[in-house]
Amino acid sequence: MGAVIAPSILSADFARLGADIKDAEAGGAGLIHVDVMDGHFVPNLTVGPAVTRAVRRVTQLPVDCHLMIEDPDRYVVAFAEAGADMISVHVEVARHLERTVAAIKESGAKAGVVLNPATPLETLSEILPAADFVLLMSVNPGFGGQKLIRSVLDKARRLRAWIDRLGIATRIEIDGGVTLENLDEVAASGVDMIVAGSAIFSSGDPRGATQSLVRKLAAFAERGQGV
Ligand code: DX5
Ligand code: ZN
Repeated sequence: MGAVIAPSILSADFARLGADIKDAEAGGAGLIHVDVMDGHFVPNLTVGPAVTRAVRRVTQLPVDCHLMIEDPDRYVVAFAEAGADMISVHVEVARHLERTVAAIKESGAKAGVVLNPATPLETLSEILPAADFVLLMSVNPGFGGQKLIRSVLDKARRLRAWIDRLGIATRIEIDGGVTLENLDEVAASGVDMIVAGSAIFSSGDPRGATQSLVRKLAAFAERGQGV
């Protein structure tokens, strides 16, 4: 099965967030990606459980909360209660990662672990079998609209091979700098979920932009993975 597109609302128009999300859903989005930033782990500040709850109310799609915050343990339950279906935490800040992953699962959400571009895959060695998904940052987190860091595609390929070798079901998500132009390259790295923020919401036509990405992915999957 091909990968799914995960629109990041970071670049949406927050004054018409519900409509933007519905447009992305109508365009064939597979899940809605919510970027949570605390002004400490990353310089930017965004949204929390209240907006997550509002997102939950306007979409049927899974809600995927990417926590770019210093103290994820304090907040995972609040995000799960707000309706997050997937919650991911950065390995760079989760001091007791096994406990955090267990707490996310206990809350009923899928647990993800996130690696910044410069964080080695090896940091996953003990946690990988426990994680439902791994999110690879393909930009340094904090802002939408940055350029894809291409070396992360090789990292994704190595992670895909590792997961396949272990025979586990851990899924791979990639986040940052994805455009219609580089989508085939990104898909060829073997990822399952592809986040796109500005490519969708800065386009002026979130439905059409999502549709273009989804169609390009479908065409890629039809041609087979042999790129
Ligand atoms: C960056 C966020 C991304 C961001 C992606 O810190 O985690 O989800 O919204 O935006 P684009 O697709 O514009 O790079
Ligand atoms: Zn994100």
